[in-house]
Order: sequence, then C-alpha cells, then structure tokens
Amino acid sequence: MTMLVRAPFPRISANLAERACIRLERALGPSKVLTAPSRCAAYASDESEQEAAPPDAVVLAACAQDIATTLEVANALGVPVCGGIALCTLGMNSIVEIDRDEFIAVVEPGVILGDLYAAVEAEGLFYPPDPNSWALCALGGNIAENAAGPRAFKYGVTRDYVLGLDVISAAGSRLQLGRRTAKGVTGYDLTALMVGSEGTLALTVGATLRLRRKPQQVATLLGLFATVAGAARAVSAIVAAGLVPRCLELIDRAALQAMRRQGVALDGRAGALLLMEVDGDVAACERQLEEVGARAVDAGALEVLVAQDAAQRERLWAARRQLSHVTAKLARYKISEDVVVPRTRMVDLVDEVMRIGERNEVHMLNYGHAGDGNLHVNLLWDEPADAARIEQALEELFRAVIAMKGTLSGEHGIGTSKARYLPLEQSAKLIAVQRDVKRVFDPNGILNPGKIFPRRGHGAC
Ligand code: LAC
Ligand code: ZN
Repeated sequence: MTMLVRAPFPRISANLAERACIRLERALGPSKVLTAPSRCAAYASDESEQEAAPPDAVVLAACAQDIATTLEVANALGVPVCGGIALCTLGMNSIVEIDRDEFIAVVEPGVILGDLYAAVEAEGLFYPPDPNSWALCALGGNIAENAAGPRAFKYGVTRDYVLGLDVISAAGSRLQLGRRTAKGVTGYDLTALMVGSEGTLALTVGATLRLRRKPQQVATLLGLFATVAGAARAVSAIVAAGLVPRCLELIDRAALQAMRRQGVALDGRAGALLLMEVDGDVAACERQLEEVGARAVDAGALEVLVAQDAAQRERLWAARRQLSHVTAKLARYKISEDVVVPRTRMVDLVDEVMRIGERNEVHMLNYGHAGDGNLHVNLLWDEPADAARIEQALEELFRAVIAMKGTLSGEHGIGTSKARYLPLEQSAKLIAVQRDVKRVFDPNGILNPGKIFPRRGHGAC
C-alpha cells in the first residue's frame, strides 16, 4: 500500500451493496456470487500499488450470459463493476480454436497467457505478446490493458494481435467487432479502441488472435556495461543501426543488485546490463548475434556473453521477470512507472531520472524495455512522511517525459493512479472526446469509474 494522495476508490452504500448482492444471487444462483467479506477480500487488489479496496460482491462468470446479467443488475441499480461488483472471468478459459492454416486462435477471456503459449507452440505457432506475468495473467486483462513485454521491440503489443473481439458493452449490447481475415477496413476500428480501454467500455467474451510461425531459433546475449549511460548509448546505437533483436532490455545498477541477490552471478565491474535476444532461422540468428554484439562492444560494453543453452537463457529471464516483485521488497513503499520516450532519448531519460532522484532525495531504480524507449522507473521509500517528495519527483518525471515528446504509459495503462496526470499529455478537448466515447458505450458510468480520466482540473467532468 502506498501513502500517496489518491482519489478514493468509488464506494457504494451498505444498503445498495446488499440490494446488489440479493439481485445477483437471485439472477445467477449463489454458487456464482461471493458476498462474504472474507471471500471478497481476495479480489481487493491488483498488481498496482493502489490501496486494497474489497468489492461488495464478486461474480464468477462462467459464460457470456453471466456477464450480461451482471451488467444488467449493475445498470439497474447504478452499482459500479469494479468497486461494487468485481467480475471474474477466469472460469471462461477455453481455447476455442487454433487454425494452423490461417494463423488464428480464438480464446475466451479467462485463458492464462502461458497456457495459450503452450497450446500454440505445440502446433509450431507463436503468440508474441509477453507481459512478464505470463504465467498468471489472462487474455481478457491483456486485451483490456494492451499488455506488452520484452518481445514488443520486434513483435509489437497485444493490439497488433487482436483481429476481432466479441464483447458486451457496459450498456449490455453484445457486439462482434473486427474480423478474422488478414486484411479488413470495414467501418471504424472498434477492436483497436477496445484494446487498451482499461475495462471502461465493454467486457471481452471472446477474442480472435493473430498468430505467427514459431521462430526456428532463439539466442540470448548479455551485455555488461560500467554505467547505465553506456548501456543506454548502446541501445540508441543498436536502434539507429536498424537492428531488430526481439528484446532489448536495460537494467540499471540498483536493479542489477536485485538480480545478483536472486543468484545471477555477474561480473562485479558491471554497473548496468543489456539483456538482448534475437530470433529467426539459424543463419539469421547467427548474423544478428554478431551484429548486435558488435554494436554493444562498439558502444563500450565491458563484455558481451551469449547464453549457452535453454537453461541459461531461462535463468536470465526468470531473474528479469522477478525484478518487479524483488524490487518491491527493497523498501516499504514502491511506485513503478512505465514511461516511454523516443528511443534516441533513452540516454537523456536515464540522466534526467538520476537528476530528479538526487534533487528530491528519492531512491530511484530503473529497468525496462529500452528498445521501445519504455523504462520502468521505480521510486522507493520507507517513511509515509516522504510521500510529498515522491509526488514531486513523479510530477517532474512526467513533465520531463512529455518535454521529450514521450508518453506517460507504455504498457500498464493510466488506471486510477495516473488519471490526474493525463492532462499533462492530452488536451482538454481530447479528453472530452474520449469521455463522449465512454458515454456511448457506458451511459450510466458503471464500468471502472475513476479510471483514465481526471476528476479535477482540465478534462474533469
Ligand atoms: C516488467 C513489468 C513491470 O516489465 O511490466 O517487469
Ligand atoms: Zn514491463
């Protein structure tokens, strides 16, 4: 739990909560509705650092009709979905179809991403988006957040792989969006609008996903640098040379220490690291290994190592995947941002973060998808009284990123925590248009109220 000033999660009265529970139980049957506070508590928080907010009821949806019924009750009573009612779609976890000839998978929203990987890879296929939580996260959430991870550098983000969606709008309309063909421009691209809408417009009942052929070979390289600025310069050089490794991850000194503590043995001289990965057929892999490695050496790498086998690769990536959790243990409070700048400005961003940390006496720790210009800037602190300095540092970070022509969020979304910073990036007019779009899908404002849009200042309603 962080101690920063945040808009409180919208709550409903006890009386309204009770009426909602009764209506839901009657409509769905008691086995699909959790109302006991002890059971609802498990749905009180997400992976963000937001304060826990236990829902008043949890619906365990087993089919599209359960979602439609829940939305009907929510609209009738004016109860928010998320806050009042938490809707869990993990039970809708079928991989409905894998079409090898068309390179398509059709899935339900509760399919765990790691299970989709296993299913498509067994067919020689590949689904590239790879948020680090792939062993646990579900496709419905990936679609709502437009999730991405290290492989986005070469392969893009979830939105690039969603061809079509079967959704139920907040108002209760079941809509088939998009297509299952390789090409298609019929009507507005509402599929793209849904992906990344943070659960504010509609709920996914099914998704048609684009697949690729599984790369023949993958190789991982480790570039050790004396300083984070050196590693950032190497990223810019690799990008500017037009090389496209599938991953280009940067890890700074403090994050590196956290990796060492997980048992990754690394040269003591290294003050920053680049984790790079290439893929393709055997010859392409070899060529890219050489080219990427050479650029890293030219940019001043102390050493470039190639992981020798799958086990070594997995050890490196496992340590990288754990960074978010491991760094959370370094202090009592942590905020993790996911700002993005043009790739060529990565060096400037790293410098600026250092200056902001020093100026505000805040412990900052950085790692992330540097190839995409997407850096996880983590702010760590122990004393609740430090919150004002953290707020100041955060605002300075966001302003610096916008000044570099960057953007506030590369993959985690705006949510409730960054809503009040949205006007730093977007005009009042643009925010107003988006609010109008929300009203079309969600006239009663029941889906995730408080997310994305600020409640005060320009852009507030
Ligand atoms: C990561 C998460 C925090 O890249 O996005 O580890
Ligand atoms: Zn990330």
